[in-house]
Amino acid sequence: FIPPSSGGGGEGLLAQDALGKPIRVSELLATHASTDRVLAQGLKGDPTYIVINDGAIANYGLNAVCTHLGCVVPWNVGENLFKCPCHGSQYAANGKVVRGPAPRSLELVSATVEGDNVRFSPWKEADFRDA
Ligand code: FES
Repeated sequence: FIPPSSGGGGEGLLAQDALGKPIRVSELLATHASTDRVLAQGLKGDPTYIVINDGAIANYGLNAVCTHLGCVVPWNVGENLFKCPCHGSQYAANGKVVRGPAPRSLELVSATVEGDNVRFSPWKEADFRDA
């Protein structure tokens, strides 16, 4: 028996809040700053940020798990940085690592607005942050 995926049709899954309910884009944009990063439940249950740029949902999300030793990295809106509380790694607003010991940038996922929800799926393109 394979249970149906929570998201229905497409690949990946709908970003969910802490209660497991799909996050509603209309509510998210009404209650967050135009450059916020909002923690959701993502692929494989990993905490994953929905990225808001210029008041719209970006086409990528960021896995919130630090690439050093796996702490969840909080977003610091005042400094426009993700700052890991465990060993001080820092990541830019797009998840690019700017200070170690983290060896890599935060992992990208694809984010697509689907109706009033956000669908996360694996990132298949090149990492635009390496350019
Ligand atoms: Fe984030 Fe070590 S786990 S800096």
